[in-house]
Amino acid sequence: MTKMWGGRFAKNTDVMVEEFTSSISFDQRMFQEDIAGSIAHARMLAYCGIVPEEDVTLIVAGLQDILADIEAGNFEFSTSLEDIHMNIEKRLTDRIGPIGGKLHTARSRNDQVALDTHMYLKKEIGMIAQLLSEMQQAIVEVATEHSQVIMPGYTHLQRAQPILFSHHLMAYFFMLVRDFERLEGVWKHTDLMPLGAGALAGTTFPIDRHLVAERLHFNEVYANSIDAVSDRDYILEFLSFASILMMHLSRLSEEIILWSSTEFSFIELDDAHCTGSSIMPQKKNPDVAELVRGKTGRVVGHLMAMLMTSKGLPLAYNKDLQEDKEGLFDTIDTIKFSLSVYAAMLKAMKVNSDRMGKAVREDFSNATDMADYLVKRGLPFRQAHEVVGNCVKYCIDQEKRLLDLSLEEFRSFSDLFAEDILEAIQIETCIAARNSYGGTSYAQNGQALAKAKTILSNQQIVLDMYTKNNL
Ligand code: ARG
Repeated sequence: MTKMWGGRFAKNTDVMVEEFTSSISFDQRMFQEDIAGSIAHARMLAYCGIVPEEDVTLIVAGLQDILADIEAGNFEFSTSLEDIHMNIEKRLTDRIGPIGGKLHTARSRNDQVALDTHMYLKKEIGMIAQLLSEMQQAIVEVATEHSQVIMPGYTHLQRAQPILFSHHLMAYFFMLVRDFERLEGVWKHTDLMPLGAGALAGTTFPIDRHLVAERLHFNEVYANSIDAVSDRDYILEFLSFASILMMHLSRLSEEIILWSSTEFSFIELDDAHCTGSSIMPQKKNPDVAELVRGKTGRVVGHLMAMLMTSKGLPLAYNKDLQEDKEGLFDTIDTIKFSLSVYAAMLKAMKVNSDRMGKAVREDFSNATDMADYLVKRGLPFRQAHEVVGNCVKYCIDQEKRLLDLSLEEFRSFSDLFAEDILEAIQIETCIAARNSYGGTSYAQNGQALAKAKTILSNQQIVLDMYTKNNL
């Protein structure tokens, strides 16, 4: 096939080279953005008197027909036409004749591909933010439903202090709040309009870039044409956001996997969210959580790949930059799928509160409260720590828990202990007493749940802004 850029070539492109350099297999998913971008560009060309109005009318109608064709599945993408931009432009010229060739006035594929990718990512940010918010909603629902359930809190994966299961889950909610905010930062740098940079230096035609930006709902226009076609920071920022989000989901996955083991038995995942073993009939595996944990590696890999691809590139466009898309698209697909399946899994899981409560009662996680008791009666904390340490040692030897001790036994360690010590180290008392701001007490947790509702309703304002500023 003759190339759109074939003028200076005496030979056809090697078939293997065509295949190697082509991006149509993956960039075809930007067809809506490519067409919308071309329509806005064409209308601007007419408005600025660069291409006659009647030609632009033909071009726009032709592009709209192509959009309908692609949406109806009546479009065969061709590898020899390299990418989505040239596939569409070629079809336009086939349809309306040489006038179609006027569309590429004052534009290059370098600013065109940048425009399409910016638009595509903006659309996806809107959808991802929505899914992120739904996942947060799911966490709040589960945390609210189980707001009285007590579990051991861990450090070093050793039982540390009693906490509310709800408080533990809400830690993930607040991580996702930061992810949501990080995504707002990504949006800011994605909401920049590159078209009109031309190949790299701008154009000799009297174009109006701000008009195009307004038509395509962009907030700002790149101030430097070389930066406009070279910049992939917004992709790197998105991949960083996605890597951190996946790392959060991966940590939660690790806990879900541990908790659903027989050894913990803190939760049971719904049958609908597990799979079985082909050999061991008794198995019920937490595959979703494992896969999310596993897919974190590939998302972080895409971030690393794009950083490496970018680091040695001279300005402006280099074909290396075509490598930005597969990792970006795969990341988008991976996080959307992960968030969707995760929210459903959380809402359906069974919480085994008896087992969690038993785990707390079987250990010494009220030891800190016992030390705090002594401190409140005047003993310096370090001495109190020592006293309780001795007491724990005694209990281990006697195969007892702190709550099993008699007042005489307590007093053999310190005469500051009185009648009320047993009440002070009841698990519910330990929870209620951690009432410092952000702590695990029932009251603090209730306030955190209320705060979460406010955060979620404020996020709705951002979600509406995304919808409004997308096509
Ligand atoms: N397919 C290319 C990409 O994805 C489009 C831009 C190509 N420009 C060029 N001069 N070869 O980056």
